[in-house]
Amino acid sequence: MRIVTAKDYDQMSRKASYIVASRVILNPKCVLGLATGDTPKGLYNELVRLFRAGDVDFSGVTTFNLDEYAGLSPENPQSYHSYMEEHLFRHINIPPEHRHIPNGAAQNIGAECRRYEELIEQAHGIDLQILGLGRDGHIGFNEPDVKFEKGTHHVRLTQSTIEANARFFENRDEVPKSAISMGIKTIMSARRILLLASGSEKAEAIRGAVMGAVTPDLPASVLQLHPNATLIVDEAASAEIMRIK
Ligand code: GLP
Repeated sequence: MRIVTAKDYDQMSRKASYIVASRVILNPKCVLGLATGDTPKGLYNELVRLFRAGDVDFSGVTTFNLDEYAGLSPENPQSYHSYMEEHLFRHINIPPEHRHIPNGAAQNIGAECRRYEELIEQAHGIDLQILGLGRDGHIGFNEPDVKFEKGTHHVRLTQSTIEANARFFENRDEVPKSAISMGIKTIMSARRILLLASGSEKAEAIRGAVMGAVTPDLPASVLQLHPNATLIVDEAASAEIMRIK
């Protein structure tokens, strides 16, 4: 894994935006894998800035989001559909029919997972997958113990993830207990991976992801096996790896 360090969150976001923008400039029809959570918000702001400056055109780009809460309709303000609309889609020019997010409100979740995998295949896979990192080392919603060979699937969220994500909801009881998520197999099939991490609460997971054993107990550790994975990490999140180095 290539490690790029950044001073702080803002610099991490800018560096990430240059990598994403360069992919789109080099291949205007590229397929991007997108993440949610607090971490990529700065990256999305920077991409909007580059778009407004006329430096990047997203009209040929296709996107696939990593995950969505089960049971939330796309219109629900807490859904990842709403998040993407607010932080990226409404500000740039990716055509609506090119944007894909699992449908958390699907009646048949298994069929929705299969449909999503097929759509990714039809798009010839993901060129660049952006990832954040859960405090327990999860990527997408692949919680510790996930099977590495899984494609898009229905996931039960751990208590620690429910608690970490409760900040986006009125109260903890409103946090859905499960989600649809690309699996590790889907993520590892992306041609390039860009993992972002900021803040001291990610330092331990980053240590495991970069220096620990490759194990389903810390799903992000599998990225050590990816041939083209880059981590951009700020000073606080890299504290543990720098101390050991
Ligand atoms: C959620 C998302 C992940 C994200 C993680 C970390 O669980 N499903 O894709 O990486 O949260 O979120 P944050 O960036 O807010 O720390």
